[in-house]
Amino acid sequence: MLKDADSAYRTISVQPQPTGFGAEITGLDLSQPMPPQTLADVKAAWARHGVVAFPDQPLSLDALEAFTLQMGAFGDDPYVKPMAGRPNVLELRREPDETASNFGAGWHSDWSFQDAPPAATILRSQVTPPVGGDTLFCDGARAYEALSPTMQAMLAPLQAVHSAVRPYGPQGSYARETAARTLQIISSKAAEASRTHPLVRTHPVTGRKALFISPVYTIGVEGLAEPEANAILGFLFKHMVQDAFVYRHRWRAGMVLMWDNRCTAHLAEGGYDGHLRLMHRTTVAGDAPV
Ligand code: SIN
Repeated sequence: MLKDADSAYRTISVQPQPTGFGAEITGLDLSQPMPPQTLADVKAAWARHGVVAFPDQPLSLDALEAFTLQMGAFGDDPYVKPMAGRPNVLELRREPDETASNFGAGWHSDWSFQDAPPAATILRSQVTPPVGGDTLFCDGARAYEALSPTMQAMLAPLQAVHSAVRPYGPQGSYARETAARTLQIISSKAAEASRTHPLVRTHPVTGRKALFISPVYTIGVEGLAEPEANAILGFLFKHMVQDAFVYRHRWRAGMVLMWDNRCTAHLAEGGYDGHLRLMHRTTVAGDAPV
């Protein structure tokens, strides 16, 4: 399943970013069902590079859903109202005159507070602004591997506490915003729930260990007092988003991007006030982190 060279793909062309984190995939038509070998190659490239971009794939919403289902079952997207008639598609639309913060503006791994967070998120660009609107990704595996063996050993037994309370709780950041937002957020008391996941998780395909935490959803470390957890998490949050571990994705209209939530975190940068940005997003179900 895992390729050890980008020339090993039989059906697609893979152009990795210089660091190897992130890659562009060409030589296929995502609007058509993928033959088994193409699907296997796409899955292998996604596992290897964490974030894969497919340029010039202006998929219809039906085709976006069909592509998603080839990757796996739909994930469950809470706290955001889906498109009418499409319960598994979020329309990320921000109008030129919106002043509310853009969706996904803090570092996070999608829905990491779920028992089994989504393996993949797929985002298709319809309208991209002429300035700003990039999505930044950090490589949790490389960030983990750069830690000292002593730090790695200290983190190994730790369970991180994840919750949706900061963004989606009744007093969360979205509930406190008063400016109008096109994307409808459903703040809820249910967001106050929390659960633990290994702070370092092992990727089921590559076997690589990765930091599985984010400032948006990770609110503590099991068994540690708040100041202790804050010290460790604060260090790790800064460590993982250093330039050396970050890939900046610059959008063009009609692009499809698929990222691996099991070993990456991301942030939507904003910076396009005065311009429309319109994207459509699906998720692929994942497993409980181990
Ligand atoms: C997100 O899913 O966090 C949003 C990403 C983006 O809009 O670039």
